[in-house]
Amino acid sequence: MSYTTPRTVLVVGSTGSIGTPTIREALAQGFQVRALIRDAGRAAHIPAGAEPVVGDLTRAETLADAVDGVDAVIFTHGSHGGRGQAEIVDYGAVRNTLLALDGRPARLALMTAVGTTDRATEGHDWKRRAERLVRASGNPYTIVRPGWFDYNAPDERCIVMRQGDTQSTASPADGVIARDQIARVLVDSLRSDAADHKTLELVAGKGAAQEDLTATFAALERDDGPDGALDKDNMPLAAEPVPVVDDLDQIRN
Ligand SMILES: NC(=O)c1ccc[n+]([C@@H]2O[C@H](COP(=O)([O-])OP(=O)(O)OC[C@H]3O[C@@H](n4cnc5c(N)ncnc54)[C@H](OP(=O)(O)O)[C@@H]3O)[C@@H](O)[C@H]2O)c1
Repeated sequence: MSYTTPRTVLVVGSTGSIGTPTIREALAQGFQVRALIRDAGRAAHIPAGAEPVVGDLTRAETLADAVDGVDAVIFTHGSHGGRGQAEIVDYGAVRNTLLALDGRPARLALMTAVGTTDRATEGHDWKRRAERLVRASGNPYTIVRPGWFDYNAPDERCIVMRQGDTQSTASPADGVIARDQIARVLVDSLRSDAADHKTLELVAGKGAAQEDLTATFAALERDDGPDGALDKDNMPLAAEPVPVVDDLDQIRN
């Protein structure tokens, strides 16, 4: 299926270490860029050329202006621990943005993390639940699980996409990737039919970056269910908390 190429993208997590290069990359690729910020004082952190919009990603009712007229959303937000933060921020931002879209179609790109399906790592279940909302939304999407940010050597720029989320040692041994390359993959995915309905772990190998990622996306297996195509089946929907199941039902309808 071929989708209309999106033109206006909302970046969630716009002030973050991936959000900022994502805005720059999207502007360089010719998108109109809207940047979600918590308060007007954060507008100074947004690269010139993007339009800051104030909203609270923890409250869907504050996101109407942010999603108005967008045809794509890139999620780069994330919490850093703290009681309940993964649910409120990592999961909540995706839930609330999808609720604010209220069924209007949008191309989605969601960043989570390598090891998201490792249930022993605190907070990862909420990233995975956010992924499930994206898959359930009925929108075209790409889910990118990066390895460790900027731990790559200068000659490690070849973009490698893995599936199955099999490496989870909570160390750079799980893979490394430059922040600017995460931004590029997220933005490139919006224009790529080959990237649609794909979930991937993103790391770097030795060598130069590919000029075009179509073949790299195309080599991946397409998702067909609540989790990534090759993910382990270790979080059954039947055992999920009732509010999470309710959110999935609401996003599906
Ligand atoms: N570091 C790594 O190697 C690595 C690897 C893979 C995945 N990750 C994941 O990447 C995610 C992002 O990491 P990062 O280093 O890019 O983080 P960051 O620079 O701190 O950016 C986080 C973004 O989320 C927003 N945010 C966080 N809490 C919020 C809240 N309560 N309300 C509104 N906005 C909130 C921040 O907004 P403000 O600027 O307003 O705070 C910021 O825009 C993390 O969840 C991490 O698990 C990290």
